[in-house]
Amino acid sequence: MDKKLYAEHIATLRSRYDEILDQCGYDTLNVFSGSPKVQFLDDNYYPFKVNPQFKALVPVTDNPHSWVIYRRGQKPKLLFYRPVDFWHYVPAAPQTFWSEHYDIELLAKPADAKQFLSADGAAFLGEDANLDGWPIGTPNPEELLARLHWNRAYKTPYEFACLREANRIAVRGHRAAEEAFRSGASEFEINLAYLKAAGQGENRMPYGNIIGLNEHAAILHYTHLSGQRLPEAELKTFLIDAGADCNGYCADITRTYAFRSGEFADLVAAMDEKEQELVAGLKPGLPYPDLHRQCHLKVGELLNRFGVIKASAESAVESGLTRPFMPHGLGHFLGLQVHDVGGHQTGPQGGTTPPPPEYPFLRTSRTIEEDQVFTIEPGLYFIDSLLADLKESELAGEVHWGKVDAFRPFGGVRIEDNVIVHADRVENMTRDCSAE
Ligand code: GLY
Ligand code: MN
Ligand code: MN
Repeated sequence: MDKKLYAEHIATLRSRYDEILDQCGYDTLNVFSGSPKVQFLDDNYYPFKVNPQFKALVPVTDNPHSWVIYRRGQKPKLLFYRPVDFWHYVPAAPQTFWSEHYDIELLAKPADAKQFLSADGAAFLGEDANLDGWPIGTPNPEELLARLHWNRAYKTPYEFACLREANRIAVRGHRAAEEAFRSGASEFEINLAYLKAAGQGENRMPYGNIIGLNEHAAILHYTHLSGQRLPEAELKTFLIDAGADCNGYCADITRTYAFRSGEFADLVAAMDEKEQELVAGLKPGLPYPDLHRQCHLKVGELLNRFGVIKASAESAVESGLTRPFMPHGLGHFLGLQVHDVGGHQTGPQGGTTPPPPEYPFLRTSRTIEEDQVFTIEPGLYFIDSLLADLKESELAGEVHWGKVDAFRPFGGVRIEDNVIVHADRVENMTRDCSAE
């Protein structure tokens, strides 16, 4: 990674953090990377997931028992855990593109951190399990966290570079996954092909890979990974929603493929077009829920065009008929976390603006602004439980049920790209990488 980009990034972060500490009445932040968690009645650990507030400062995602001590106006200190340990991997002391921006102390034992910590004028960010009696300061003050979360929506050029690279890695995986699907691989085998091409293991993925064949495409967060290969005659759909990591930043990409041409392949192609129209609709100043409503109108158009519903797109949106077919939100902030923080935040100091009541799963109620990064992920599914409710409702007469039954074995379609909103254009990182 480019050293200059990181230098500019940390300078921006430091001015943001200094201002926020001042506003909230603290001098110091003690930020803990986290400690490994033991499984219940077991001696094995869950995969380590770093505190996002820690990786927001240093691109270290795999080292528990480490700390950033951030004092207003001073070069931050990194307490980097390096035990003598013949059981576990011990990362090397950092000497890389970001390390000159930190005073680095190596810790041989977790408790060695105590001598560097002080609770005076300090806030603590992290999970405080097993830190009883440590001088860490006020844990996770609400307004301080809100202000940090609010700022995280505005990405720096370094963060754009990390997100682009995460997309590049994920797109490599997606290409290999499509190839595996077309050669008859099982979901489990497709996942292996994805991970191999991405060069990242399961625990590094920002979320469990969603790899569904046929009707499994209708299960929104399907992570079962069946080992069963389907005979070619039975192969219909492949939906893959899988990301990658770069310096702690996430990609979150979905593609849907039809195995053969026909009406479902046409629906996938039509959704692909609608998705690109929605990406182009990411305009600074537009409330994100308005774009979500436009998405429902487009889903309504597709349902009508493909003969699934009798109603017009407008009346389907009005009556709520599109909702069982597209039950999730159009997209979300993307960054250090796949569903990045602050999507429902009302202002820098906090507060919550819920999504419109008719769209409870929409993760973004904020207005679209420059330097924000979003996913755009419209979908159209044939989900048995939601269709059963629809069939019992007063809208049942608006549906061509024969058509629904013809589409059911295909599961559904979702197309998801990762997009940066610039002042004068939108940058579709996913499509740009796919064209490379
Ligand atoms: N992969 C989860 C999501 O798209 O939000
Ligand atoms: Mn996704
Ligand atoms: Mn997503």
